[in-house]
Amino acid sequence: MKLGFLGPRGKRPGLLGRFALSGPKTAPAKLPWTLAVASGKGGTGKTVLASNLATQLCMDGFKVAFFDADLGVANAHLLLGVQAQRSIAQVLGGKISLKEAALPSPFGPWIVPGGSGISDLASLSAHEFLRLARDFRAWEEGMDFLILDCAAGISVQTILFLQAADDLLVVTNPDFTAMTDAYALIKVLHMRDPGMRVHVVVNRIRYRGQEREVFERIQAVCSRFLGKELNFLGGLPDDDEVPRSVGARVPFVVGAPRSGAACALRGIKDKILDLRPGGEGEPGLRPEGYGDRLARALRG
Ligand SMILES: Nc1ncnc2c1ncn2[C@@H]1O[C@H](COP(=O)(O)OP(=O)(O)OP(=O)(O)O)[C@@H](O)[C@H]1O
Ligand SMILES: [Mg+2]
Repeated sequence: MKLGFLGPRGKRPGLLGRFALSGPKTAPAKLPWTLAVASGKGGTGKTVLASNLATQLCMDGFKVAFFDADLGVANAHLLLGVQAQRSIAQVLGGKISLKEAALPSPFGPWIVPGGSGISDLASLSAHEFLRLARDFRAWEEGMDFLILDCAAGISVQTILFLQAADDLLVVTNPDFTAMTDAYALIKVLHMRDPGMRVHVVVNRIRYRGQEREVFERIQAVCSRFLGKELNFLGGLPDDDEVPRSVGARVPFVVGAPRSGAACALRGIKDKILDLRPGGEGEPGLRPEGYGDRLARALRG
């Protein structure tokens, strides 16, 4: 692991406090609200959720940047119908900037594809990470949302991407191992930043009310061992339209807008909009962007 310098981080201010962090390097600018979509266990539905959420937010008129932070084995661009001529590999090679690597999805979000089968990208050097962090500013400025589709698990690299986000959106399913791994991820993030807001989506639910049961089980463990309150965003049903949409490379909110998955996704999106810092009418001016926070997280 190349990122062994990662030190413990100090207590982070609450959400509003983070807007007023002192010492911005540049004047306040319109910078996005960053949501990192993560899970402890692989295959819980992060990419499906993140790509459909980003698409639905674009359909609602927001400007959305999508970053595939599963750098080595990226696939989000496929779900967003994008042919990746450029990827993060060229950015890290110093050939193009992050903004130049961003491609418009036919469904709205701007996406920087990750690499495919490039194992080096799974453990960036500190130098590469810092260059990436510095590059974010030019790309994210003017966006309403930055959505990160993260790799599963608690690798040092993944934790860095997550802890620089404004909010963490954990995707689990009802499987016991997915729930316990969700708790493990939340625990690691909580240790680094007790103030971080953690939202939970329960994917692949099979009966009404199952999402609430799963959430309550994870919440009970988090309350008992971490004293941490989570925010429940809802569930997505196990729905055949989901694998169909993946195969067709068309997000289900576009290709099957009346499906159970699409209806549930819109409910989750509405809850996210309600939580948006500042709410309606907020100009969105902030002193720090995701790139600034990523650079700070790197310094430890
Ligand atoms: N609600 C759902 N109903 C039915 N199938 C689903 C649902 N959500 C996800 N799937 C299936 O699970 C597969 C894996 O989903 P996805 O790629 O989003 O998981 P992931 O968490 O991003 O995986 P990884 O950890 O490998 O990045 C999808 O291709 C799809 O076939
Ligand atoms: Mg994925």
